[in-house]
Amino acid sequence: MTVGVAVIGCGTISHEYLRNLTSFPDLRVLACADLDVARAREVADRYGVPVSGPPELALGVDGVEIVVNLTIPAAHVDVALAAVAAGRHVYNEKPLALDPAGGARLMAAAAQAGVRVGGAPDTFLGAGLQTALRLLAEGAIGQPLTVRTVMQGNGPDRWHSSPEFLFQTGGGPMFDMGPYYLTVLTAAFGPVARVAATARTARAERVIGSGPRAGTRFAVEVPTYVSALLDFAAGPAATTTFSFDAPNADLVFEVAGSESTLRVPNPNYFGGSSALLRAGEREWTEVPAAGITAGRGLGVLEMARAIRAGVPHRASGERALPVVEVMTAAIESAKSGMFVDIVSTVESVDPLPADWDPFTRTLPG
Ligand SMILES: NC(=O)c1ccc[n+]([C@@H]2O[C@H](COP(=O)([O-])OP(=O)(O)OC[C@H]3O[C@@H](n4cnc5c(N)ncnc54)[C@H](O)[C@@H]3O)[C@@H](O)[C@H]2O)c1
Repeated sequence: MTVGVAVIGCGTISHEYLRNLTSFPDLRVLACADLDVARAREVADRYGVPVSGPPELALGVDGVEIVVNLTIPAAHVDVALAAVAAGRHVYNEKPLALDPAGGARLMAAAAQAGVRVGGAPDTFLGAGLQTALRLLAEGAIGQPLTVRTVMQGNGPDRWHSSPEFLFQTGGGPMFDMGPYYLTVLTAAFGPVARVAATARTARAERVIGSGPRAGTRFAVEVPTYVSALLDFAAGPAATTTFSFDAPNADLVFEVAGSESTLRVPNPNYFGGSSALLRAGEREWTEVPAAGITAGRGLGVLEMARAIRAGVPHRASGERALPVVEVMTAAIESAKSGMFVDIVSTVESVDPLPADWDPFTRTLPG
């Protein structure tokens, strides 16, 4: 049977999700919910979703098996716990939780209730990152040794109409963009062993740049620049920079191996080419993305199919929780000046089968 889904949180990113979730034949979107019920209704009408209303209403809709939680980070755990208490599986946008304790509470409640937790990002299931992960797994660069990532720009306050949450606990470039990079790196190399970081906050206030509240000032509560060193238990080391304090945008994601360097596509996207630079060569060799690109919601679909097949899903809470621990440790390290050991563990992930197709029905009725 197709899997029924409810979306809670009908803001900016809900549109990309709903476009995709309503186009996957194995899913049925049955309800849209938000604290702002007018917004929920507007979004439901736009995507042909039959029911809309407040969150508690969506949780009671017959046939809803997975709740897709697209609320702001501060609400992620509470909304997810309510879904779990209603006996539903839940898929959280990133970050899974504001801190490891909140994430662990959610995972324990889900285990107790016998339901699953999914966690964004699902970009690593897209063709671009799957291709890069396959190259690493096949030994295309020899032994992976070191990683260099840079994600910098002037921040989302310019384009987001409610950007405050992106500058509060659970936001900042570490918690907002870190999950994309850390999910790819842990999918490739497994668990991080320890983290050290330095951090800055360039401006104590920012100004909303678009939407009805444009011009409104708000306080910045978290570091807007975090540069972290990561030691992976399996051997590789990474230097990673996440910044909303740079006047110009830059994006680097390279893995240097014993024989070649791999350029990984933007981990915030589902497509994009990889590239290899062999030792001694000057020209990168492009490797086009092979497989399905789709978009946000792919992880929900993969989770739904895995539920029906009785196998583990890939964009999981088990994968997202260690990422929360690493990000929290980076912020802690920037305060203490010490390396922080990471206790959680996570396995590298098998690539999707080559014939995995979100747009072909695999579940009956
Ligand atoms: N905006 C993006 O480009 C983007 C991209 C990827 C992931 N995300 C993630 O998606 C999530 C949402 O981001 P957004 O940009 O759509 O935010 P947003 O502020 O535009 O929308 C959030 C929505 O959630 C609702 N909401 C808040 N608390 C709620 C609660 N307790 N119950 C029900 N509804 C509640 C709000 O009313 C609002 O409509 C965040 O976790 C963010 O990290 C956003």
